[in-house]
This record gives sequence, structure tokens and C-alpha cells, in this order.
Amino acid sequence: MVVKKIDPVRMTEKELLALEAKYCSWGDTVHYAKELRFFQQAEGSFLYDRNDVEYMDLQMWYSAATFGYKNKRLNEALKKQIDTLPQLACQYLHEEKVLLSMKIAQDVEKKFKEKGRVHFNVGGASAIEDAMKLVRNKTKKNLAFAFTGSYHGRTLGATAITSSFRYREKFGHFADRANFIPYPYCFRCPLGKKKESCNLACLRQFEKLFESEYYSLVNTKTGNCEFGAFYVEPVQATGGYIIPPMNYFKELKKILDRYKVLFVDDEIQMGFFRTGKLWAIEHFGITPDVMVLGKALTNGLNPISAIWAKEELISPEVFPPGSTHATFSSNPLGTAAGLEVMKMIEEEDFERTVPEKGAYFVARLKALQKKYPQVGEAEGLGLALRVEICQKDGFTPNRELTDAIMNIGLSGTLTAGGKTRGLILDVGGYYKNVFTLAPSLYITEKEIDLSIDLFEEALKKGIAMTQ
Ligand SMILES: Cc1ncc(COP(=O)(O)O)c(C=O)c1O
Repeated sequence: MVVKKIDPVRMTEKELLALEAKYCSWGDTVHYAKELRFFQQAEGSFLYDRNDVEYMDLQMWYSAATFGYKNKRLNEALKKQIDTLPQLACQYLHEEKVLLSMKIAQDVEKKFKEKGRVHFNVGGASAIEDAMKLVRNKTKKNLAFAFTGSYHGRTLGATAITSSFRYREKFGHFADRANFIPYPYCFRCPLGKKKESCNLACLRQFEKLFESEYYSLVNTKTGNCEFGAFYVEPVQATGGYIIPPMNYFKELKKILDRYKVLFVDDEIQMGFFRTGKLWAIEHFGITPDVMVLGKALTNGLNPISAIWAKEELISPEVFPPGSTHATFSSNPLGTAAGLEVMKMIEEEDFERTVPEKGAYFVARLKALQKKYPQVGEAEGLGLALRVEICQKDGFTPNRELTDAIMNIGLSGTLTAGGKTRGLILDVGGYYKNVFTLAPSLYITEKEIDLSIDLFEEALKKGIAMTQ
């Protein structure tokens, strides 16, 4: 891109950092990093720092900017909305809200043969809270299942179904803390089994808990389960882009249906074609009761989020006016961006291009895996890609090397591709040793090649530094 020159009379990074240290809360995630970094421009797959150094971004705002930074079509839709109806209290209607709801509901109905409705909120965690309201309203049960390794957000309700105690630790007692069930993380099987021969042993273990009242889930005399819903990430995101066995959710749903436990599908990070399908759950052949959407719904241009739910859970009779509300929930800038995303999806062929690009990317990562034993696993579903960084044995998690690679990328000093560049990587996983790669869905083959070259350079440097 042509880098726009920014007014040279401005504060230095040093001055800004001194102000940041004094006036910004450190309670967000900025200070996870040792060295803080400023960016000033973005386009396509790239971010640009204040010295105009280009960074290949392989995480795209945790998959919020899935359709690329400064996506022309989506930005235009937003600009048009700014010039027509930029603000409107959510108690009044506007066209984009209705059409966006319709497009989501019709798509779900076509795919899952299920009628439903859409409700908007702001941010993923708030939409999760709305899903919880639907569940409680329907089942009159507060307790829920969620997976080990799950991340559903950081409001109090969402934190209760997020597995890490670290996020709850400072905030008192969580009476509704979920019952966390082991996720089918086959590379590091919680039961030490092999995927090829396990026969879904972890799921059978869960099923066993319904056999006797003494396992604490169900009154076996009446079949009444104490838990209202299971909150599920179809591909576990923050947990390390973990792809479950393809028959896992079908089998899980059979158990849940037996005990009338609702299936809430958190698509916040994996929705909108990240995995090669509009909704990631489509890969697994089941129909969710509730779906939760966020992030890429507006390509990260506006924080609206949404829930889709089956009619029986969200019809006006059971979820009447005022059941939930937020000032900014269906704001017209958000619905305009969301509607354009849905139109764009209808016109483009992401169902073909994303798996193709993903297959190419994974093949190149697997070639790296052959060369470097420290790459323990390289896998993907669509363009949700995971790279586990390990010790030389290819298995023991190697957080030190992972951090080194991430920091080298972020330093903006790589030279692959013939100029000084950086590489933006996000780290996730149970042992913080997994690169969770979420490139732009518009990434080109040439950009994938560049990404691999930059990654290999950072990997080599990281290995040399940590040996
Ligand atoms: C799967 C999943 N659910 C929920 C959330 C929370 O969304 P938000 O950060 O917008 O509240 C996230 C955010 O990373 C997520 O990945």
C-alpha cells in the first residue's frame, strides 16, 4: 500500500508511553507484552507502525477483521451510513437491522431447517449473557456445562463459563461456575489415548456421569438434569484453535438431547467463514439451539454482536419486549456493516476459497514441521490454523520459544521478502505454546508464502536465542 505520511509534529513513542503508563488502566491485555507497540495504519493483511514498517498480520484482531483491514466495500457501507442515519435509539426501527436479522435467520433456516430470530447486543461477552438469559428463561436452570480450555468472554456471566480460574480469581464467588468437561484435544488427549483408537473415550466418560445420581448431574428417577445448557466453541479458539473429531458434537448432542440440555454454539471467533463455512458448527452436522455471533459480523468496524435462537426460545411469547437491552445494541453503523458483510458473503465464494487457501497454508506449515522438530503440530480447518511449538521431542510445550518467536515478529526487524518487516502472531493454548493463526480471508498465495518465510525466520532466530 502507499503509506500515508502522518503529520511529523507529533509526540514521540517515548512520550506517549510515559502518558500511557500514567493514565491508561493496565487491566486490559496490553501489558501482557514486555515491549509495547504502537500502530498507525492498516490495509489488507498488513499493519504499519509509526515508522511505516510493515507487519504481516496473522491474527487479524483475533479474527474480528476477518475480511481484511480497510476492506473497501465494507468501509464504503459504513461511510454511506454515517452520511445518512449514523445514530438512532434502538427503540426505533431502521431497514438495515431488519434485513440483517432476516439474512442471518434465513441462512440458518436454510441450513438447519429451523426457524428462529436474531437479537443484537454489543460485544461477544454481552451476547453470551443474552444466550444465558434465553437458557435460564427456557429451562429455569442456572447451571451450565462448558469445556476445559473454553473462552467465552470476561463479563461476570461469561467468566463463569470460561475455564481459567485466573479470570475469576479476583472477583469473588461464582455460584454459577460451569462444570468444565474435558475438550477433545487429541494432540494432548486428556486421557492419554490415541485419536485413531479412542472411540471418543472422553465423551463416553461424560456420558457415564448420567448413569447414576451419585455422579451429581441428573436425577435418574425423573431424568431431570441440573444443567440447562452446554456452551460450546465448535473449534476451540483461545484454547489453541483445537479442532475436535468430526463426529464428536453429533455424539455429544445425542447425550444432551436425552436430558434436555440446550446446545449453545459460540461462533464469536470461528463464525463468518474462519473455518471455511459461514458457521463453524456446519462442519459437524448438528443444529444448535442458540448461536452467538460477534467479531467478524462487522469486520471489526463496530462492536455489535448477536444471538440467533430457535423460535421456541426467543418468540415474543417467551422473550417479550424489554427482556434484554443495551443502548448501542442494534446501532445503525453496526447493522449497516453487518448487512454488507452478509451481502458480500452471498456474492463471494468463501466456501471454496477459504478451504483452498487453508490447505495451501497448512501444507506449507507442515513442510516447516518436517524441518523443525519444535513444530509439534500444524493443523487447520479453513483458515483457522494452529501451530504448536514444542521442545525438540515435538511434544513437550515450549512456551519460552513461543514467546521468543512472537516477540521477534513484533520487533519489526525480520528481513524475509527483501525488506524490513514484522509479523503479528497471537499465542493461545493450554500451555501458551500455540500460535493461533487467523489470517485475512483475502490473503493471497504470495502473502501466504511471505508469511511462511517470515515465520521461518522468526522460528530460526527464536531457536538460536533459546538454545
Ligand atoms: C469464542 C469466544 N467467545 C466469546 C468471546 C468474547 O468476545 P468479546 O471479547 O467481544 O466480549 C471471544 C473473544 O475472544 C471468543 O473468542
